Amino acid sequence: MEPVKVLFVCLGNICRSPMAEGLLQHMVAEARLTGQFQIASAGTSNYHEGDLPDRRMRETARKHGIELTSRARQLRKRDFHDYDYIAAMDRSVLRSIHDLRGQEASVRARVFLMRDYDPQPDSPDVPDPYYGGLDGFEQVYRILERSNVAFLQHLSTGTNSVPPGE
Ligand code: 4NP
Repeated sequence: MEPVKVLFVCLGNICRSPMAEGLLQHMVAEARLTGQFQIASAGTSNYHEGDLPDRRMRETARKHGIELTSRARQLRKRDFHDYDYIAAMDRSVLRSIHDLRGQEASVRARVFLMRDYDPQPDSPDVPDPYYGGLDGFEQVYRILERSNVAFLQHLSTGTNSVPPGE
């Protein structure tokens, strides 16, 4: 069977979306489902093209037993055809994704907000931790951890009650 392809998207592709990518990869491996998924991340900007994730995000991930090794790259139109799911980290990123998609008639990807899956959605956005302190990175980790649990449940069983928006 074709693997399910998931792309996480934030602004810089060095904090939130690589963390989401690393988390879901980790969860999928723990569930022994590795071959059934292809998971990646991208940024709406090209600010950090080719960079490793932010050191603070890597250190937070490492504390939780996850190594982040992806390199930043910018979202491109082809991604709408290559991926089944495109998860936006916040509403501004979601708008940029829709702008890039433009009038493209039929696309494969379902585009939605990551926190549509958060069981404790105190905001629709995964907060951008880049200009803040270390606690912001830990908060991003916690939001993405619980959102990905629900997202993976949806992907593997279809039992999650929150449908991805368009
Ligand atoms: P991210 O965080 O979108 O979660 O990767 C940011 C990283 C870099 C910048 C903004 C947000 N920046 O402006 O360089």
